[in-house]
Parts: sequence; structure tokens; C-alpha cells
Amino acid sequence: MDKILIQGGERLVGEVIVSGSKNATLPIFASSLLAEGENRFHGVPDLKDGKTICEVLKKLGVKIGRGQEGEYLLDGTELVGHEAPYNLVKTMRASILVLGPLVARAKKAIISLPGGCAIGARPVDLHLKGLEKLGAEIQLRHGYIEAKTKGLRGAGIYLDGPTVTGTENLMMAATLAKGETVIENAAAEPEVVELAEVLNKMGAKISGAGSNIIRIKGVKKLTATEHTIIPDRIEAGTFMIAAGVTRGNVHIRNCNLDHMEAVVNKLREAGMEILREDDGVRAIGNKRIKSVDVKTLPYPGFPTDMQAQIMVLMTLAKGLSVLSETIFENRFIHVDELRRMGADIKVERDSAIVNGVKGLSGAPVMATDLRASASLVLAGLAAEGQTEISRVYHLDRGYEKLEEKLARLGAHIRRVKG
Ligand code: EPZ
Repeated sequence: MDKILIQGGERLVGEVIVSGSKNATLPIFASSLLAEGENRFHGVPDLKDGKTICEVLKKLGVKIGRGQEGEYLLDGTELVGHEAPYNLVKTMRASILVLGPLVARAKKAIISLPGGCAIGARPVDLHLKGLEKLGAEIQLRHGYIEAKTKGLRGAGIYLDGPTVTGTENLMMAATLAKGETVIENAAAEPEVVELAEVLNKMGAKISGAGSNIIRIKGVKKLTATEHTIIPDRIEAGTFMIAAGVTRGNVHIRNCNLDHMEAVVNKLREAGMEILREDDGVRAIGNKRIKSVDVKTLPYPGFPTDMQAQIMVLMTLAKGLSVLSETIFENRFIHVDELRRMGADIKVERDSAIVNGVKGLSGAPVMATDLRASASLVLAGLAAEGQTEISRVYHLDRGYEKLEEKLARLGAHIRRVKG
């Protein structure tokens, strides 16, 4: 297994270009199951998760080709299968995103139940309840979801929890249902808005995406389209914090500040300068970061996917900060590893109390999930001495060439093939 070695203490200076959004790419790729013809998607990030969903889609008959850098061609005209097998779903639970489109288009789906993951149980009950409301018969057998229908019908669906992929699954399924569907308490993340835009370009009739009430008027069929994936707001936020923890000055290109208000406001409150510049921002870290309190919330609140990263900034801030994680039940796994690097953090149920220290010290640490591994990289950039991060396959799921991008900004970082 590969490791990443970092010699900390270097200020990051220069320009970095953010890749396309992982969490927009996955549902948009799944939507190829709904449409006839060849979709052309641009600005697709080169990530492990993208490769995994392509494996799942290929098994279902989607023809997948590659164009130039970042261009994918997906053609779902002829679907052949109904099954997303355990060996693929277990590596990426977002494979559940094929369930809704498959039931809508092929009227049948056999999808391995995604297990939990390091950050929580990750149930899919809301996905299943919503599909039953739309007229699917669901059975859970031998670890698989078996869904079938004579034809989906529009319905009113209320989502009990803030599920992004649940909203996306049901929105996709409803595009081919007979009649109108209303999804209430829907997720409002930019990736949901992006998916609705792609589906409407395919011929769907969706309104309200980006609010908590989404209306979908069913249509007979969808046809393929062309689209450029939005930038990854979590990667952009990770680079802003990289500038913050190294007192750097970084021009972060290809990032949409409108999708990052909560993060940018918090970083400014902590004393960073975040200035609009060209097609992105300039992030400037200052001498002493101030402690701020953070509570993760569904969009437009502070994203849970940025909690581990801003925690690193707070370990170096002046004073005490309280980070409350309201979305996932176990998303403080990075705390123990940060403590080994000299951070002063106490976890009390769903909150972490961070007491800022003068500096962190490099150490051998282990990545446990995608965003936790990003926080260990950030800590390594700031720490005195060498940090060795193992199990970096977690990082490769959601960050494209992170160590190369950081090295170009002046970080002493390299990957050791394991
Ligand atoms: C999406 O996951 C993202 N993944 C996650 O990003 C992100 O952390 C999360 O939204 C929250 O913003 C993708 O978009 C592919 P959930 P999502 O499992 O919506 C409860 C990353 O790092 N819930 O639905 O699939 C659940 O317990 C990843 O890029 C139910 O109770 O998240 C949790 O509390 C990590 N029943 C909350 O909703 C359900 O049926 C969200 O969890 C579904 C969810």
C-alpha cells in the first residue's frame, strides 16, 4: 500500500487548479442509465470512485469511452443487466445511486446493500421508502436490495433525514415515473442542483432543485446530453486550509465561491484572507489563526466533508474551539491521529473541543477515511519534521493528484509506492 511522506513547515505559494466534483460526477454518471444515446461529460476528475462507478455501469450495459483529458462518453441505450454486485458496492457505497435510475428505466434492480463505513452506519432506508412510495416493490434478501415495478408512479415523498444521495436517487427515479413527484425536505447541495440541470438537459421536467422542495413531472424518455462537471468545493476548501495552516498565499483556480459561503465565512472569521480572483480565489494565511466554533449542517450550512480539515486549522489557532458534527455519528476518527501529532483535542459525544497549540510535530499516522486522510496531509504540511501517512488509498478516492498539486505549491511531499 502506498504511503505519503511530508517534510512539514514549508509555506505554500503559487497557483492550483481544482478538479471536477467527485460528488457531482457519481450521480451524473448514474443518470446515464436513464437516457438513450451517448452522453459527453467534460471536466471529470480522475478518481478511484469514478472508476468504481464506471465498473458498476459497465456491468449494467452502459458503454463507456474516454475522450481527451477529463472527457468521458457514457451510452446507456442498451441496458443488459440489473445487478450491482457486492464486490463493487462494498468498495463504494455511492454505487447505491444506480438503484433509482435502474428501477425507473429497466423496472428491476438487484443492488448489494451498501454496508456502513468508517464514519457511520450510512443507512439507505430513506432511499428504499421513497422508491416504495413511487411504486417499487422492495425486498431485502441475502444482503441485496431486490427492487421491481410494473412502472413507477409519481408520489409525494417526505425525507426524514438530510440525505444527498437519497434525494438524487429519488429525483432520478421520478423523471420516468407517470405523473408528478414532490420530494420534501430534499437535500439542497450544489451537486443536487447540478444533477437536476443534467437531467433537465436530457428532457426531464424538474423544478425546485436547490430548495428543500423538488417537483418532478414524469416524462416518457430521456435522451443523452453534454455537460461539464462543476468544480469540487471540498477540494477547493481543502486547499484554502492548506494555505491557512502554512501561512501561505495560494491562488485557487476553478472554484465557485457561491457554493462555499459557509466555509469562506468561517475561514475569514478565523483570520484568513479569502479574496475573489479570476475564476477562483486567493487564500492567504495569517500569523495567528483565531479559534472559531463550527457546527456541520446540511447545505447551505458548514459541510461535514470539511470538518476534519478545519479541525487541523483549529489545532493551531489561538484559544478554544468547539466543532460539532451533526450529520454522521462517527466522524472524529482523525482526532486520535492528530493527537499523536501533538494536537490538544477532547471528544465529548458529537463535539470535539480543540485547544490550540503552538505547533504540531510530524509522526507516522494512518488514514481511515477520505476526509480524515486529507486532514492528516494538512497536519503534515504544518508539522515540524516528517509525517508518514499510510493507507492513502482512502485519499485517492476523492482527491486527484493531491501530492503533485501540493508539491507544485512548494510542499515537500512525495508518494512512496508500497
Ligand atoms: C453525501 O452522502 C456525500 N456523498 C458525502 O460525502 C457527504 O458527507 C454527505 O452527503 C453529507 O453531506 C456523495 O454525495 C456521494 P448519507 P450521502 O449516507 O447523502 C442519514 C465524501 O467525503 N440517512 O445519506 O449519501 C445518515 O445516517 C462523502 O465525499 C438516513 O438516515 O450521506 C446521515 O446521518 C462522505 N437514511 C445523513 O442521512 C438514509 O436512507 C446523510 O447520510 C440515508 C441517509
